[in-house]
Amino acid sequence: ALISLRQLLDHAAANGYGVPAFNVNNMEQIRAIMEAADETNSPVILQSSAGARKYAGSVFLRHLILAALEEWPHIPVCLHLDHGASPGVCVQAIQNGFSSVMMDGSLMEDSSTPSSYEYNVDVTKKVTDMAHACGVSVEGELGVLGSLETATAGKEDGVGAEGKLTREQMLTDPDQAADFVAKTKVDALAIAIGTSHGAYKFSRPPSGEVLAIDRIKEIHARIPDTHLVMHGSSSVPQEWLKTINDYGGEIPETYGVPVTEIQEGIKHGVRKVNIDTDLRLAATGAVRKYIAENPGNFDPRKFLSEATKAMKEVCRSRFLAFGSAGWA
Ligand code: G3H
Ligand code: 13P
Ligand code: NA
Ligand code: ZN
Repeated sequence: ALISLRQLLDHAAANGYGVPAFNVNNMEQIRAIMEAADETNSPVILQSSAGARKYAGSVFLRHLILAALEEWPHIPVCLHLDHGASPGVCVQAIQNGFSSVMMDGSLMEDSSTPSSYEYNVDVTKKVTDMAHACGVSVEGELGVLGSLETATAGKEDGVGAEGKLTREQMLTDPDQAADFVAKTKVDALAIAIGTSHGAYKFSRPPSGEVLAIDRIKEIHARIPDTHLVMHGSSSVPQEWLKTINDYGGEIPETYGVPVTEIQEGIKHGVRKVNIDTDLRLAATGAVRKYIAENPGNFDPRKFLSEATKAMKEVCRSRFLAFGSAGWA
């Protein structure tokens, strides 16, 4: 059954667990997530980006997700728009049956220039006014994501060397988060606490804490009723990187967010954990391996089944690690 993000995450908060939000673009990803959720009894967040719409088309995306709701009617599913770039995009998603939208006002509509705080409040409030009237939840974002590995040492609020940002400048400010939530009434808030999108998060194996866990605690203390969201939360499984590279891939050394730090975040108010890259890596590794080992095969169902199986294992392991297993 389709449920809103607010309903789903209120339950997660009441019971102290987090929910992975997987990006979906095609049938194989949706099957992998739903089968893993079914086997672990986990509620589900499926999210689609502008890139997903460009790839599959919004009509196909909608029907793929309707198919999932029909095949697994007993599983609570939130259908979420990932990184909506404008109020218009969010309205279209609502018309398309999404039960939750992200208005990412942390960036301008071109998705690359950081916006002003006033712009972010303005576009996000527009969306919550409309979405809440339709029973649809809203996620906002405050701060600009970035790996703390790139932060320069420097005074708390001084500008770092080479125009780079200091650690303090990279993190979401708790007072501003409280003001943002009071003004916009978002249900969930994506925060900058050291995560970044994509496979290239950390260049060295994690030693000690890689995220700003204390900052998560400070933000949660200020806005306890707003569900915190961690974008860029792929863990970049080293075994899949190895498989990709063993079978002809060329992916440089790189590391993701340790699952243990996500679990620490979940103890302090993180409820939605965005994952895309890990499923991409698992699918690529599985397809490369199958094709290399079966050079005579030309039936795509064979290698796509391997991709589904690999993605399903990643999903299963996140449902278990974040504690959502058993709650569907
Ligand atoms: O945050 C971005 C997600 O990983 C979606 O990526 O825009 O390539 O679909 P995409
Ligand atoms: P990853 O690139 O770490 O998987 O993050 C995905 C994400 O945040 C989607 O919004
Ligand atoms: Na999102
Ligand atoms: Zn994201």
